[in-house]
This record gives sequence, C-alpha cells and structure tokens, in this order.
Amino acid sequence: MKEIKIFDTTLRDGEQSPGCSMTLEEKVKFAKQLEKLNVDIIEAGFAASSEKDLKAIQEISKNVERPIITSLARCNKNDIDKAYESLKYAKKKRIHTFIATSKIHMQDKLHMSEEEVLVKVREMVKYAKSLCDDIEFSLEDATRTEKPFMAQVIAIAIESGANVINIPDTVGYITPNEYADIIKYIKENVPNIGRVELSTHCHNDLGLAVANTLSAVAAGITQVECTVNGIGERAGNAALEEVVMALKIRNDYYQATANINIKEIKNASNMLVDITGSYIQRNKPIVGENAFKHESGIHQHGVLQNKNTYEIIDSSDLGIEEDNIVIGIHSGRHAIIKKIESMNLEIDLANIDDYVQKIKKYLEENKTISDDELREIVSKGKVKSKSIFN
Ligand code: KIV
Ligand code: ZN
Repeated sequence: MKEIKIFDTTLRDGEQSPGCSMTLEEKVKFAKQLEKLNVDIIEAGFAASSEKDLKAIQEISKNVERPIITSLARCNKNDIDKAYESLKYAKKKRIHTFIATSKIHMQDKLHMSEEEVLVKVREMVKYAKSLCDDIEFSLEDATRTEKPFMAQVIAIAIESGANVINIPDTVGYITPNEYADIIKYIKENVPNIGRVELSTHCHNDLGLAVANTLSAVAAGITQVECTVNGIGERAGNAALEEVVMALKIRNDYYQATANINIKEIKNASNMLVDITGSYIQRNKPIVGENAFKHESGIHQHGVLQNKNTYEIIDSSDLGIEEDNIVIGIHSGRHAIIKKIESMNLEIDLANIDDYVQKIKKYLEENKTISDDELREIVSKGKVKSKSIFN
C-alpha cells in the first residue's frame, strides 16, 4: 500500500481566492485545525506577497508542531529570502519555489526564453537549497508545457537540489488520461526522477480537479496538493475531503492511503465556512448538507433494510451523527413511520395513511418539514401503537 502525503494549500492557494482572505488570527486557528486533521504539509502563505502574509506564516510556524510548514516563492532571490524568513520558527520547513514553463506563460507573462528559464531554475533552486534542505519546485502551467522541455526543466531542478517536483494543472485544462500520460512521460524521460517525490496540484476549471488528482495517484505520484472545501483560484483546487475519501473508499483500486484523521474533516469544513463566509453547495460530496441524506421513498426503504443499498460512506466515520433520513415530498410510509418512532411520538397505525397524507400536503405547500412541525401534525390524533417493524 502506497502512502500519499497530503499537502494542504487552503491557507495559500485557497486564501488568495476572492472572498476567502483571512486575518492572521484566523489563519493560525485554521492551521491548528489542519494539524488536528493530520495533514503532512501546510502551505501557510506566500511571504513576498505581503508583510501580513509573512507574519502569518511565522505565527503558524510557532503554533503548529507536527506538519512541515511551507512558504511559496517565485524563482527570485527576494521571494526566496522572504520565504526563508517566514519559516524561521518552523520546526520542519520547506521552501516551495516555482516558475512558469508553458510557451504562453514564458512568452507573454515572463518574457523569457526557454534558455533563460532553465538558467533561472538552476540558479534559484540552488540558492533555495543553500538555505533550506527541503525544496519543492513547481512548473507553473505544467500541463500546457511541451513535454521535452518539461523533462529538461525537471532534470535541472533535481540536479540543483529539489526533492519534490510538482506538476500543476494551473488552469484546470487537462483530462485524467492525459494527466496520467504526462506523469508516465516524466517517469520515463527524466533520468534522475527516482530521487524525488512527485506531486500533483490540480485546479477545477472544468470540474476535473479531483478526477485528475486521483489519476495522478494511480499513475504513481505520492504527494497531493489540495484545499478544504476545494477553495482556490477561480473554480478552486482539488477538494481535500473528496480526494481523501476516494482513496479510503476505493482503496482496493488506488492501493494508496492518506494518513488523515477523517473525524476532523467536517470540523475543518465548518470552520472554513465560518471564517470565510464562503458557503458550500448542499450536494457537495462529503461535507455538503445533503451529502448523506435520503429523501426518496425507494432509497429510504432500501437503507432502512440495509444501509449499503445506497450508502458507500458511513457518515459516522466522519463524525456526522445526524439522522440521514429526511422526510420530504418523495418519502414513503416506511420512512415516515420510522421517523415518527425515532422521535418517540405516539401514533395510531390504523390511521397512518391519514398522517402520511397530512404530512405530504404540508410538504407540498412548504417543501420542508422540521421535527417540531412533524410533531405538531402527528400529536393531533395520538393513540399509542406498536411499530410495524416489530
Ligand atoms: O496553480 C499553480 O500552478 C500554483 C503553483 C504556484 C503551485 O498554485
Ligand atoms: Zn494553484
């Protein structure tokens, strides 16, 4: 079983997205929650972007013990010096430096030739290595980079001291099979690749971030970069909770484990929503309000007899203890009776069709029904009766 390291970038890529900025105190609070979640690496910020970010990385470093703390830097001395300064209190530190390698980024953003980029990579990775033992190097826009050039850049970064090579899908462009082919190409064409850890970092512009990340795992990478609730630039990054649960539930297929304390996933998700005010959709996998709820009669009837009919994840493993059966317009008699019984209400089973009708009528008009509203409808004609399930 291969071990996958979880590199959380909620406090860097996530925090730099619209509506998700955090104060220093909020960043420290969230970093402590990431430690409880047991992530392996926390990307705490981009020190050169502001004095506030640099200070936040230092405070996080003082308050977090176990994970590696990493700080982002472009391939220039000033950024690398700032990243190093931001990590001075970290027990375990990593400098994460990057440069764009696709034609469009080199020509129209950096205004640099391939040769100039190669020189920068060599000089700056060496410089970062002279300060810090643990160096990650990322090829920004790697998935739109020409493969032979990508192989050259990676080989130079490794020669210069990088011990982690990250292959970002910066603009969320790649598809799962193509991404696996890129990883395969790198493994076959970079002679010194065996010396380093390979990492994935996927954006979600086409809704493929998690699928691409998992495809990279299947292709042999061992570090996953992701964010809680999938926040991040534009449409976000691969969602930590989705990647981790896919690895756990489909362990038979991926043959890989992540050492995450899954009972803390929901707490991390809730804390992030509280801090940023950035809500998640009801049907968001793993952490959405409806992620484990059943309303349709057919599904409810199934899970009441055997949960595995419609549930692949046991929500209590995630610390979610609430009732997964929701009484709604599509619910059937079985679920309604079970729900009434679970609320310890007395009902006259001879009149159950009457109750069901009243509840459905209420739902037609109101869409949802709370426990108090249900109690009120049921308690109007209470006569004690036995469960039909006994
Ligand atoms: O998306 C990206 O390419 C990045 C890099 C800086 C790793 O966030
Ligand atoms: Zn990114």
